[in-house]
Amino acid sequence: MVRIGILGATGYTAQELIQILLRHPHAEIVALTSRAEDHPHVTEVHPQLTGRLDLQFEQLDTPKLAERCDCVFSCLPHAASASIVKQVVDTGTRVVDFSADYRLGDVATYTQWYGNEHPDPDRVGHVPYGMPELFRADIATAALVANPGCNPTGPILALTPLLQHQIVEPTRIVVDAKCGVSGAGRNPKLVTHFPECNESVTAYNVGHHRHTPEFNHVLGTVSRQAVQVGFVPHLVPMDRGILTAIYLTPTKQVSQDEVLSLLRQHYADEPFIRVVEHLPATKHVTHTNYVDITVRMMEDQMVVLTAIDNLVKGASGAAVQNFNVMFGFDETTALLPA
Ligand SMILES: NC(=O)c1ccc[n+]([C@@H]2O[C@H](COP(=O)([O-])OP(=O)(O)OC[C@H]3O[C@@H](n4cnc5c(N)ncnc54)[C@H](OP(=O)(O)O)[C@@H]3O)[C@@H](O)[C@H]2O)c1
Repeated sequence: MVRIGILGATGYTAQELIQILLRHPHAEIVALTSRAEDHPHVTEVHPQLTGRLDLQFEQLDTPKLAERCDCVFSCLPHAASASIVKQVVDTGTRVVDFSADYRLGDVATYTQWYGNEHPDPDRVGHVPYGMPELFRADIATAALVANPGCNPTGPILALTPLLQHQIVEPTRIVVDAKCGVSGAGRNPKLVTHFPECNESVTAYNVGHHRHTPEFNHVLGTVSRQAVQVGFVPHLVPMDRGILTAIYLTPTKQVSQDEVLSLLRQHYADEPFIRVVEHLPATKHVTHTNYVDITVRMMEDQMVVLTAIDNLVKGASGAAVQNFNVMFGFDETTALLPA
């Protein structure tokens, strides 16, 4: 059994992670952390776990936690995460970090977009991006893995083969995303308050969303060219899910069938990528680790559509997929629907 600790375990991604790990035959959750001083029982915070997990939240004591765990999942916000993750990794315990702290290639870009000094600058640029479909070998041996952001997940997977085969312009990409409210986390905010977001759809952070440099860095790395993504996220009144429409300019004449067959060939052995003929919908992937992808041609424009569940393939499902790769388990363990 691999002994698991979860940091920031009161939040939404942790709630999903616990439910997935409870189905995992080789994982045992031994510690859940929270800043709460009264050490609530897990079922007080996550009532859906009643009868399934008997643990109390504990305040973080990093050396003790690392001693008791073989793998730690950090579900903390950026900056708070790296300041603890660096101490855990230094003990030799392996970590999957959900935050953005280790996803980018250099500290200057991180500081520019996140606005804080990086708590662990020496590791930035040396941590594999936690997308096994693209970086499996690096993840398998890593002490620390940077779990991807929810918004970049579908588009990075869909765009990688198209950019590698140079069939779309790398600097004329627009990603339009429709995101469920759980993407903003469990901590209440005015924009996610029910009367503010229900029966309404609004764009947010247009041109300055923090996932922008992640798209550019990862897609630039896998296709070895400068990539520039314009990212337009929208908040939609649903609990979970992300649908993206990606507007592209083809570099040559190419048919819808040719693009679909390129995607199918590229991902033929990937258990969680489904290249589909129909138009994807968040409902088709909800509570699963699947990414649905399709393509449509419109005159001289190409539109690629993707759908994921932000809390599964966009966070906790991807984290367990990474965990499976790191510890040598079948990659689909605990992740396929019944
Ligand atoms: N939500 C998504 O769809 C999604 C997808 C991909 C990645 N992520 C990333 O995953 C991480 C967790 O996201 P989430 O949606 O689960 O967030 P969340 O629901 O807000 O939970 C985060 C938890 O971290 C703890 N926390 C908050 N601020 C802290 C601080 N300054 N120091 C220490 N602990 C703190 C809180 O627990 P206590 O108050 O109990 O201490 C909180 O419950 C974030 O880095 C997020 O960017 C989220």
